[in-house]
Amino acid sequence: MSRADLILRGGDVVDGSGGARLRADVAITADRIAAVGDLGALAADREIDAAGLVITPGFIDVHTHDDRYLLEEPLMPAKASQGVTTVVVGNCGSSLAPYTRADLPAQASLMLSDPKYRFPTAGGYFAALDEARPALNAAVLVGHRSLRFNAMDDLERPATGSEIGQMRLQLREALDAGAIGMSTGLFYPGAQKATKEEVAEIAAEMRADDGIYTAHIRDEGDRLLEAIEEAAEIGRLAGVQVVLSHHKAAGRTNFGKTALSLPLIEKLMASQRLAFDVYPYIASSTALLPAIVDRADRVHITWCKGRPEFANRDLDQVAKELGGLSRQDAAAAVIPAGAIYFTMDEADVSRVVAHPKSMIGSDGIPSDAFPHPRLWGTFPRVLGHYGRNLGLLPLELAVHKMTGLPAAEFGLKDRGLLRPGAYADLVLFDPSTVLDTATFDSPKQPASGIVEVLVNGETIWAKGASTGARPGRALRRQADTTRGQG
Ligand code: ZN
Ligand code: CU
Repeated sequence: MSRADLILRGGDVVDGSGGARLRADVAITADRIAAVGDLGALAADREIDAAGLVITPGFIDVHTHDDRYLLEEPLMPAKASQGVTTVVVGNCGSSLAPYTRADLPAQASLMLSDPKYRFPTAGGYFAALDEARPALNAAVLVGHRSLRFNAMDDLERPATGSEIGQMRLQLREALDAGAIGMSTGLFYPGAQKATKEEVAEIAAEMRADDGIYTAHIRDEGDRLLEAIEEAAEIGRLAGVQVVLSHHKAAGRTNFGKTALSLPLIEKLMASQRLAFDVYPYIASSTALLPAIVDRADRVHITWCKGRPEFANRDLDQVAKELGGLSRQDAAAAVIPAGAIYFTMDEADVSRVVAHPKSMIGSDGIPSDAFPHPRLWGTFPRVLGHYGRNLGLLPLELAVHKMTGLPAAEFGLKDRGLLRPGAYADLVLFDPSTVLDTATFDSPKQPASGIVEVLVNGETIWAKGASTGARPGRALRRQADTTRGQG
């Protein structure tokens, strides 16, 4: 090689493997990393002085609801600003494809509300991604609830054999089109009546393809341990890998329970392929569901269709204004709406974030008017708040949990590790200032300390703004992952 397209000079390379940082130059040619080391003799069309900065692989957001965000706002500033270069979409049982029903059941998530963004086949969704040319790469999961909406007229019972057969056919199309697996949200209306046998029989369709099964488990509170066991059993019955989504212990009576759940997860990991992810906050967020509002210390409204003035307000205050209603009645009166639920203990969150095997996933909801700050803050918060400020985990481990570890678990080929031959998905940041700035009161804030972000060799974020470049790719199971290669 006589000349590179770009060289980052003299940064501290944290390569995503978990190993110690190393002072080095990084050369990029086209969409790949060409060389790493002392490249003093090598010239490039463009050079970046990385002295005092850290260079890492781009962050992989393993748990997102960016299915529509990729199409509607392809620059994806909420993610690009954090150093995220790849997102996994279709989580918690909800995906835009396949969706073959004309109407929208009440149990469906807001993401599916616009018929323009509902796709009868996963192939159609992949084509839309190719056409949208987003700034970030995306891997795609199929939502089990979406499959149920298509196959079942009555969602409040387990699926019959022929309905399971129908769901498997749709999952098959999606896997062949490039989906990497299936997600469930057994906690949610529309899926609560699904048995573990139902899910396992559908998921078994993925066995030969080495598809991945991601689980928003049935209960993250009183029956947390039982729900983890159920998801693990589904993985064993189906013969597929399990990812436990956004691991947490919810509700005051369950504070401290991650001291039990993490050892259980470690035990399961020893005998089956199982992984888990976490977001670094003590509050969760989803639709405003009257049945669960009393479990939270505080409930904050993120959007409200009928009464937009209630967005960014506390549910208790709204209840007062509505004539002294109970929380549940107030929630029932204002839905459809979204909410943030303060339900976790800081000690649990810290314990899961610090665990060497937890992957980082934002679970952000881009469509919310006042989203949970995890949408803009997750990755810099792990690095800056939990890593640097609290000293909870070393930078090399934090980066590994965002890069090399998720790339290995999801089988993302040539991503997640900074080494010659890998795709040039890179983040350049200042380790002394990287930090989330998004808060519950002001949630749409780009993080500080993120200097430059590259996807497939092109800069998508620099000087605090999107560059306009959209080099992201839809990652297809057969071509872009190690899954199901035989
Ligand atoms: Zn979820
Ligand atoms: Cu989710």
